[in-house]
Amino acid sequence: MMINEERIAAYINSLDRGLSPQLYELEKEAVKAEVPIIGKETQRVIRFLLTLIKPKRILEVGTAVGFSALFMSEHSPADCMITTIEKVPMRLAEARKNLKDERFPDRGKITLKEGEALGILRELAAAGEKYDFIFLDAAKGQYMNFLPELMKLLVPEGILVTDNVLQDGTVINSKFSITRRDRTIHMRMREYLYTITHMDELETLILPVGDGIAVSYRKPA
Ligand SMILES: C[S@@+](CC[C@H](N)C(=O)[O-])C[C@H]1O[C@@H](n2cnc3c(N)ncnc32)[C@H](O)[C@@H]1O
Repeated sequence: MMINEERIAAYINSLDRGLSPQLYELEKEAVKAEVPIIGKETQRVIRFLLTLIKPKRILEVGTAVGFSALFMSEHSPADCMITTIEKVPMRLAEARKNLKDERFPDRGKITLKEGEALGILRELAAAGEKYDFIFLDAAKGQYMNFLPELMKLLVPEGILVTDNVLQDGTVINSKFSITRRDRTIHMRMREYLYTITHMDELETLILPVGDGIAVSYRKPA
């Protein structure tokens, strides 16, 4: 059992190298507007993995206002292309604006796909698109439905990062202690985590930091 996890998390956060000034501004705006963007822990995991594997094609499910896409644009190789999916009109309006904003030097890497993720994932898979890094950060209840499509899109040796998998820790609670409203999501997240940790094609690491981050590596074919 870790001692005083909050203080340890605060100490680790104090070592964070920080964002570029333009991302720092966007992060502040998004937090103020209560847009759920990736936290410091997820930022560091993504930044580390992007630096390590230097992906050429990134797929993101869940753009919100474009913060994480712009973050990835600053930490990926110059010739990397990023496709990101969002469906909510209010978020899309903000995302379109941010992804055109001249403050962000690497915005040209990013393509926004507008609509329901499942349909877009199916279209991308049918078109034979492939990605070496996938970031899944959308409606948690749908991850199991997305997974077969994501497996068509993820290349061997590619990485799938899933955010918020521990749901503030409630994922470990008995389903009987969870309100009916949240029970379906709870069961679906457990099913998703069991599946990605037991699939032959994947090697998955679940990090109990932030809201829980799963990092899955697709083994060579
Ligand atoms: C947690 S936010 C994404 C935050 C973003 N990745 C960031 O860190 O800047 C999740 C987003 O996914 C979108 N979303 C959820 N389910 C979706 C779906 N089925 N299709 C498309 N977008 C979806 C929501 O509208 C929301 O804006």
